[in-house]
Amino acid sequence: MSAFHLKVLIMHNTSNSYSSAMAGPETGRISISSSPEGIKPLLEVKNLKVYFPVHGGLLRRIRGYVHAVDDVSFNVSSGSTVGLVGESGSGKTTIGRCLVRLIRPTAGSIRYLGVETGSLSKKTFFPYRKKIQMIFQDPFNSLNPRMSVEQILGEPLSIHFPQMNIEQRRDRAAGLLRQVGLDPDHLRRYPHQFSGGQRQRIGIARALAVEPEFIICDEPVSALDVSVQATIINLLQDLQEELGLTYLFIAHDLAIVEHISNYVLVMNQGKIVEQASAEDIYRSPQHPYTIKLLEAVPRL
Ligand SMILES: Nc1ncnc2c1ncn2[C@@H]1O[C@H](COP(=O)(O)OP(=O)(O)OP(=O)(O)O)[C@@H](O)[C@H]1O
Ligand SMILES: [Mg+2]
Repeated sequence: MSAFHLKVLIMHNTSNSYSSAMAGPETGRISISSSPEGIKPLLEVKNLKVYFPVHGGLLRRIRGYVHAVDDVSFNVSSGSTVGLVGESGSGKTTIGRCLVRLIRPTAGSIRYLGVETGSLSKKTFFPYRKKIQMIFQDPFNSLNPRMSVEQILGEPLSIHFPQMNIEQRRDRAAGLLRQVGLDPDHLRRYPHQFSGGQRQRIGIARALAVEPEFIICDEPVSALDVSVQATIINLLQDLQEELGLTYLFIAHDLAIVEHISNYVLVMNQGKIVEQASAEDIYRSPQHPYTIKLLEAVPRL
């Protein structure tokens, strides 16, 4: 059993002591650099804001705004893994959804390879949708129960590779299943015929189908059994090495992020309170909220 596997198993028995109001003073490092000097980042996010209107009253008038993401800036360099950590409701998924253009930012800039993508229309964003994929938290809800695995994997292929015929799509889908450690004979099966870990492997295969460069992994293991978490993390790491992928890895938990990230962003109540290399975050956390998160991580 690997050290990581052991760590995950131990974490399982420890309650997370950090919770709600941990918005301490802004004393954390916030210098923006996850790229080696002189190398242009793959992704640059600057002063990103997402405010959701809150409606109320009989006329459903706007009563105020939830500042889900409030002036967030960070970079992601090519081939790296940047961990994005924070408790529930801190705005992590909202950032991910902005990056794949499922949400339009209220303000700020998102640049992918130097191109401003945050303000693109759905149509002009289309080529970037292929480069930037998302793996979702819940493998039970993120796969359509009425679609076979072949259909699930074939759908993004038919959208982004319209020249492929049905045989080519089937071959590619079988290859993808192999790549994520599943039996290619399972193409005709439906999601309910798989375990949670296997479903998440299908979710990963679906993200890989269109040959992306950048994948947002939104808590990809938090719904899984502890013993399965390590195998999925290891798979993601192997795929990153093999395919040169870049990850934004979202988690509640600093333990998982520590294992896989080069750089870590700590988020609280819509803001990044600290960002630094994984080593610095774990060796000398600066912000009280980061310290609280670290205290909740059991050590071997
Ligand atoms: N479509 C929406 N409309 C209104 N408010 C929203 C919407 N999506 C998210 N929010 C609010 O924005 C805040 C951030 O939500 P988000 O889902 O980004 O948090 P999160 O950090 O991903 O949390 P979790 O760890 O629970 O997944 C929350 O207060 C949430 O209620
Ligand atoms: Mg979320």
